[in-house]
Amino acid sequence: MAYNLLKGKKGIIFGALNEQSIAWKVAQRAVEEGAEIVLSNAPIALRMGELNKLAEACNAPVIGADVTNNDDIVNLFNKTQEHFGGGVDFILHSIGMSVNVRKGITYTQNNYDFSHKGLDISALSLHRILQTAMKMDAINEWGSVLALTYIAAQRVFPDYNDMADNKAYLESIARSFGYYYGVQKKVRINTVSQSPTRTTAGSGVKGFDGFINYAEKMSPLGNASADQCADYCVTLFSDLTKMVTMQNLFHDGGFSFTGVTQAVIEQMEK
Ligand SMILES: NC(=O)c1ccc[n+]([C@@H]2O[C@H](COP(=O)([O-])OP(=O)(O)OC[C@H]3O[C@@H](n4cnc5c(N)ncnc54)[C@H](O)[C@@H]3O)[C@@H](O)[C@H]2O)c1
Repeated sequence: MAYNLLKGKKGIIFGALNEQSIAWKVAQRAVEEGAEIVLSNAPIALRMGELNKLAEACNAPVIGADVTNNDDIVNLFNKTQEHFGGGVDFILHSIGMSVNVRKGITYTQNNYDFSHKGLDISALSLHRILQTAMKMDAINEWGSVLALTYIAAQRVFPDYNDMADNKAYLESIARSFGYYYGVQKKVRINTVSQSPTRTTAGSGVKGFDGFINYAEKMSPLGNASADQCADYCVTLFSDLTKMVTMQNLFHDGGFSFTGVTQAVIEQMEK
């Protein structure tokens, strides 16, 4: 059901790769709620061609940008400003990648070149996007910026590897930049800490099936789906949440505050 929560709003959605992507669902929901959007992803992701389907359905232009490249980000904001004839009201950062995870290198053996690359893509990119937006005055007053994160930033999940460090850095950037952008232009910046979700990035984590099943059993409401995450993001882009900023918001069916559940105890007694 749509409520017109984003009527008249304009936004940029980073990170829709395929139909499983959380960003894909957010793009669809945002448009359903009346928003106009621009879609962006890395040039290599655009070459896969999947994004064109979403672009067509959402009547949205696709503007490629490697988030580790300043010129790409400047170009994206320039073209977006041209397209909308002004600034944007919301931005979704739905981007993550660890070369160490991809190559199966364990945390204690991390290769630092790979760590740098992962940090740049997964965390510093939020700073880069915000710094560029601020310089170009590309986000409207009372705009809302969201980045997706995971609870491995606070607790140890061994196979999450260096992505845990990247997420801790990402959450810290949201807080720190949230202060400055709030004071300067009433722009709010938050992170949404989502349940494990079956996507390309999610499934790359070693032992993902065990991981997702455990989280399901440890969450009073069960795991939050990508569609439910999209619903939540839409509320955070809307004017109903104007005073929420610099927060890490758990969207995880209660997992983050559960010590143990009956289902897990029963499993342990077997
Ligand atoms: N899937 C999960 O279990 C889960 C749980 C919590 C948080 N998250 C977070 O959600 C976000 C979206 O991930 P997803 O699960 O939808 O997977 P996904 O693989 O669909 O999305 C990751 C996106 O990052 C993009 N990307 C990678 N390198 C890039 C670069 N250099 N420039 C621009 N874009 C680049 C990819 O092209 C892809 O679109 C990530 O931040 C992820 O860490 C995922």
